[in-house]
Amino acid sequence: MRLAFVTSNPGKIEEARKYLEPLGVEVYQLRFPYPEIQADTLEEVAEYGAKWLAERVDSPFFLDDSGLFINALRGFPGVYSAYVYKTLGIDGILKLLEGVDDRSAYFKSVVAYWDGELHLFTGRVGGRITTEPRGKGGFGFDPIFVPSGFDRTFAEMTTEEKNEISHRGKALKAFAEWLKENLK
Ligand code: IMP
Repeated sequence: MRLAFVTSNPGKIEEARKYLEPLGVEVYQLRFPYPEIQADTLEEVAEYGAKWLAERVDSPFFLDDSGLFINALRGFPGVYSAYVYKTLGIDGILKLLEGVDDRSAYFKSVVAYWDGELHLFTGRVGGRITTEPRGKGGFGFDPIFVPSGFDRTFAEMTTEEKNEISHRGKALKAFAEWLKENLK
């Protein structure tokens, strides 16, 4: 079976292949920009995007929508993570947290799979925001996020280490487990 991953990020394709190829599923990248609506939850954003694409893409596909939720900022940037990363950036987030003791945060990812119906899979990883950026790997907010149980930021880990514990890794794993049951 071939499955389209609708994303502009080739790094995410590699990650998805790791979970889906062992099931005999061939993942390929489909660059197809879709609307990312303003909504309160990642689930709503992913659902809207998947239903919009369903009217335009013939083959089965999936997409993922993710974000960083900082507790002291009541979940900000959350669904606005991509926009905030582009505008305020890492330094802007660190500024907002200057003098704030509660540095707890989590990343969440929602994978939406469309096969004629919508199926959502979520993954989450808790951790804390550092006081300065560390590491060169990864992307986005990786240099300021230390997952629980670790001392290193995501950007200081290898891709394999990060994928093992990341929000996207967990959502993809849940998706792969579902596919395993449902492709029988
Ligand atoms: P998107 O779902 O790929 O649009 O991700 C939204 C934004 O959340 C990205 O632009 C990143 O800033 C942030 N983000 C999502 N996942 C990660 C991650 O694994 N590491 C770091 N930042 C992430």
